[in-house]
Amino acid sequence: MTDFARPARRTFMCASAAIGSAALLTACGNGESAVETPEANSIPEPSGEGQVLMPVSDLPVGSRASAPATYPDGSATAVMVFRPDEKTVLAYSNKCTHQGCALTPKSQDENFYCACHGSKFAPKDGTVVAGPAKAALPRYAAEIKDKNIVVYVTADA
Ligand code: FES
Repeated sequence: MTDFARPARRTFMCASAAIGSAALLTACGNGESAVETPEANSIPEPSGEGQVLMPVSDLPVGSRASAPATYPDGSATAVMVFRPDEKTVLAYSNKCTHQGCALTPKSQDENFYCACHGSKFAPKDGTVVAGPAKAALPRYAAEIKDKNIVVYVTADA
C-alpha cells in the first residue's frame, strides 16, 4: 500500500480562538463549511469483473480525469481517477458527498471539484478539502493491467 492509499487521519476543529480567524468562526457557526468527517475511506478489495476505464497512457503521472463507467447492475456512472506515480491509480465515485452532483477533475487547483456548491476533494485520498461537503469520496479498487486502467466499481458508491 502506498502513502496515497493509506487513509489520512486529520482532525478539523473549530478552534477559531486558537487560530484567530473570525471568518472560520462564522463558517463553523453555520455548519456550511466545516469539515466534520475528514478521514479518507478505505480502498475496497477488487471484486467482480473490473472494467477498463481508459488506456493508462491517457492518464500521465500526476494527472486527474473522469471517465464513464457502469455499476454492477449495468446503470451508468462515472469514475474519478488520479495517478500519483507510475504504478498506482486511485479511483473514486464521481458523486459529490454533499448533494450528489457530478464532480469534475478540472479545477483551478489540484483537486476534484463540484461546481454545484464549490466542494473540493483531494485526489490523493478523496478527503474534503473545501465544503460544504463533509464526507470523503467513496473509493473503488483500481489497477493498471495490460496498459489499461481497470476499475472495480461497487454499488454502494
Ligand atoms: S452537491 Fe457538491 S457541493 Fe453541493
